[in-house]
Amino acid sequence: MSEAVEYERIGDIAVLAANNPPVNALGVDVRRGLLAGIERAEAEGAKAVLIYGKGRTYFAGADIREFGKPPQEPWLPGLCDRIEASPLLVVSALHGTALGGGLEVALSSHYRIAVPSAKVGLPEVNLGILPGAGGTQRLPRVAGVEAALDMITTGRHVRADEALKLGVIDKVQDGDPREIGLAYAQELLDSGAPRRAVGEMPAPDPVDFDAVYEAVLKKGRGQLSPAVAVRAVQAACEAPSFAEGMARERELFMQLMESDQRKGLIHAFFAERAVGKLPELKGVEPRPVHQIGVIGGGTMGAGIATAALLAGLPVTLLEMTQEAAHAAKDRIAGNLAGALKRGKISQQQHDAILSDQLQLATGYDALSAVDLVIEAVFEDMDVKKQVFAQLDAVCKPGAVLATNTSYLDVNEIAAATKRPQDVIGLHFFSPAHVMKLLEIVVADKTAPEVVATGFALGHRLKKVSVRAGVCDGFIGNRILSTYRTCADHMVLDGASPFQIDKALTDFGFAMGPFAVSDLAGLDIGWAVRKRKRAEGLDPRARDSSYADKLCEAGHFGQKTGKGFYVYEKGKRGGTPNPEVLDLIAADRAAQGITPRTFTDDEIVRRYMVSMVNEAAKVVGEGIARRPLDVDVVLLYGYGFPRYRGGPLKWADLQGLPGILDDIRAWSAEDDYFWQPAPLLEKLVAEGRSFDDLNKDAE
Ligand code: CAA
Repeated sequence: MSEAVEYERIGDIAVLAANNPPVNALGVDVRRGLLAGIERAEAEGAKAVLIYGKGRTYFAGADIREFGKPPQEPWLPGLCDRIEASPLLVVSALHGTALGGGLEVALSSHYRIAVPSAKVGLPEVNLGILPGAGGTQRLPRVAGVEAALDMITTGRHVRADEALKLGVIDKVQDGDPREIGLAYAQELLDSGAPRRAVGEMPAPDPVDFDAVYEAVLKKGRGQLSPAVAVRAVQAACEAPSFAEGMARERELFMQLMESDQRKGLIHAFFAERAVGKLPELKGVEPRPVHQIGVIGGGTMGAGIATAALLAGLPVTLLEMTQEAAHAAKDRIAGNLAGALKRGKISQQQHDAILSDQLQLATGYDALSAVDLVIEAVFEDMDVKKQVFAQLDAVCKPGAVLATNTSYLDVNEIAAATKRPQDVIGLHFFSPAHVMKLLEIVVADKTAPEVVATGFALGHRLKKVSVRAGVCDGFIGNRILSTYRTCADHMVLDGASPFQIDKALTDFGFAMGPFAVSDLAGLDIGWAVRKRKRAEGLDPRARDSSYADKLCEAGHFGQKTGKGFYVYEKGKRGGTPNPEVLDLIAADRAAQGITPRTFTDDEIVRRYMVSMVNEAAKVVGEGIARRPLDVDVVLLYGYGFPRYRGGPLKWADLQGLPGILDDIRAWSAEDDYFWQPAPLLEKLVAEGRSFDDLNKDAE
């Protein structure tokens, strides 16, 4: 027997216990072990087989690491058919998360029992594929088309009580999976329960798939897998036999398996788990954090305080005046009311947080006992330095002093204290209680335990934390500044902001850059441009004035009702603001530019290539540790389409030589903006990819 599946015989029941930590993924050893276990049980004359998982879960799915590699037998679909075809009574006992191929093994079993905390689901669409071991054929047979497609197209995890109602499982019982499984199998044997194969059940009732699933079939923002999954379920209803439905599922599964979207989504899955693994933090203990301070109660400070409160951390919020402190509390209360509405907290928790966990203060002394402080005050170096000098004076030794600056020099801020080893950047993204990204900015003198404390806090706040080095804008905002500049150049040269936004949302971005500017507030970009001009722009850098003109007229985007778009109260989204086109035309005329046309493809290509080139500089300079860190920042903080895996995964899939060729060609028109990243040149010369760098770092 394989070690990944242990065999045991209890009376008439053969017990197959999966032992493949951490999540009992159905890798080749597990598949071989299950097959051997079924065959042995049959050969030994057992009457029933119990399948369960040791450790934290039943099978959490196929082994994703095997995707894209040559498949090894037995394949999962054939194994599921073999389990189902067994003349013995096959029972699965579920705990933890029975997902994907895991649920498919369970559906091939003749009966399913689960502990109340178990969850089931078919999350394959989130990996760019569809359930490929009979899930699209068996689930609709037990749960009906509607429920099956809800589970398959959303990938959501369904709790045991709901799964019971849907008919996905037969019984819910508290206890140890092995014990409840054995008892259930014995009960079924004693009562003479028949072998019950889902594949032999009648096909589900068909529906008008084109009409009912029109929205899914239209492919939300370009993601293929949910739409293809609908067609697979359609085959469950319409194919002349179960076997032919299975063949159709296989065909569609293989199509998706070959797609770049599958590669992008699986890259994203592993990248988001890899970002927190830093070799320098191995064995480094974070400092304990029991209560935190937040300085500044604006949108950002209130969001950070909310995130901490929701994670059960008491917060002392410091503002300049009583009035400002109360306004901050109102903002936090608003955020918490949202969490209550979405069912994230109960009314009781909501009330307790506001009455016991949040302290308001107007003097720094209130921060003398906190373990960690996050400053979220006005983005100005002198102001930040004053704040940190005050913190240095009052905070207890060992307290972590964090700044939420989005681009300022954390080394300079740290130098305002006598304890630079305790200073770190914790860059949240607004709204901080919603957005998952946290950039952990490590300054020259930041102590490893302080970095570990940043990651531990991120984990507690359920953030995806990425290590960044110090530079203007760190990872995300630095790259944003470059691709935003690229968009600006395309506007000057003839594209409209509206065409650019549309081309990029068609590519899959949540929003285009001009709609994003409207949302963030045009005054933010205006302040940055003014600062950069004051610092002195390079004479070769192209500049524009059309966006300044909008700001000068008091149009700051959504918050003033007008920016690149016009926003009407009560309506979602905006309509293009025609005045913008006049401002752009005036800017072009003043600069002597004759506008030309851009295709959507050229817009996307230039925008993406500028992003990749800056990202390569960020990696090459060590600001991001690996290419995958950049990918995760863009996926979680900047609305990058997940199914494309992030900009550097996209670059690998496009081919790096072509990207470098484009940069070199475009540098003929602007050799200041289009300077190839040395790392990109090196990779192309060596015939390597960004993913090779990720692997080097493993
Ligand atoms: N294959 C390989 N490795 C997997 C895996 C899988 N299906 N699922 C999880 N892992 C690994 C993770 O990469 C992680 O590894 P490291 O510790 O080395 O980083 C480890 O298991 C633990 O995972 P998490 O950190 O995610 O643990 P968690 O407790 O937060 O979540 C989970 C557990 C809910 C199972 C989550 O890991 C998850 O959602 N996994 C993917 C489930 C899935 O998509 N299954 C479908 C697979 S596709 C399929 O089955 C196709 C088919 O039809 C044939």
